[in-house]
Amino acid sequence: MKYYSTEKINYVNAVELIDVSFAYDSNPVLNHLHLIVPNRQRIGIIGPNGAGKSTLLTLLNGVLRTEDEIKICNYIINRKNKKIIKSLVGLVFQNPDDQLFSPTLLDDVMFGPLNMGIPPQQAKQRSREVLRTIGLEGFEHRSSIHLSFGERKLAAIATVLSMTPEIIALDEPTSNLDALHRRKIIKWLQNQEKTVLITSHDLDMIYETCHRVIILYKGQVVADGQVSDILTNGALLEQYDLERPLAFQQTRHINQNS
Ligand SMILES: Nc1ncnc2c1ncn2[C@@H]1O[C@H](COP(=O)(O)OP(=O)(O)OP(=O)(O)O)[C@@H](O)[C@H]1O
Ligand SMILES: [Mg+2]
Repeated sequence: MKYYSTEKINYVNAVELIDVSFAYDSNPVLNHLHLIVPNRQRIGIIGPNGAGKSTLLTLLNGVLRTEDEIKICNYIINRKNKKIIKSLVGLVFQNPDDQLFSPTLLDDVMFGPLNMGIPPQQAKQRSREVLRTIGLEGFEHRSSIHLSFGERKLAAIATVLSMTPEIIALDEPTSNLDALHRRKIIKWLQNQEKTVLITSHDLDMIYETCHRVIILYKGQVVADGQVSDILTNGALLEQYDLERPLAFQQTRHINQNS
């Protein structure tokens, strides 16, 4: 697949947050956050409800604004760079219905590329390819209203992939999915070569798909390391109201009984 706008960009770090704080009105949510995500890393962002995970993702494509410094592929997020930032960061919301509104799925997936000024024929070809990659070949002319929740989740990812972002930010990609659709998303993530940020309470999925994980707690990064270190550390996870992934809980159970 030939990409358009961002193919010549060179950078080492895909995301850089330097001392970033954010408040809704006067309610502080992110507090002096530092986070560097190198190009092509897949990073899980975990933490209890209300920790600030979704807020953090939403800051990355400029939907939410802060005066503090956030760099995306070396571009500082500001008014001047608004357009390029939107094309660099593909944000997939938790609720797929926030991203699906056209009469057919193909229209939904073509919407982004057409908006970027890509000629219709090329946008169509690219969108068909993306639907094939995500496992929705044959769904092109279906309406998202008549898709299952799991299919809509995959479709929402497709609407972002068709814009060929450098960075994919996924908010709770496996929530409310059955085993089949959850596995489809895990497999797709494992094959990703882009930078991926994933927020989730599904720590087993994070373990299977990410290189690195951070724990966000009350708007601060309180742990940062390889998934194999953080997600096996029961004491650390408990300290921040989290539990070890089920895979490790089962292992402990078997060992205790043997
Ligand atoms: N639009 C908003 N206006 C005001 N407060 C908000 C808004 N969105 C989120 N908040 C508050 O900001 C805090 C962080 O919310 P956020 O959605 O980022 O948490 P989260 O870590 O994604 O939680 P969850 O695991 O439940 O998805 C919460 O206390 C929430 O109530
Ligand atoms: Mg959230």
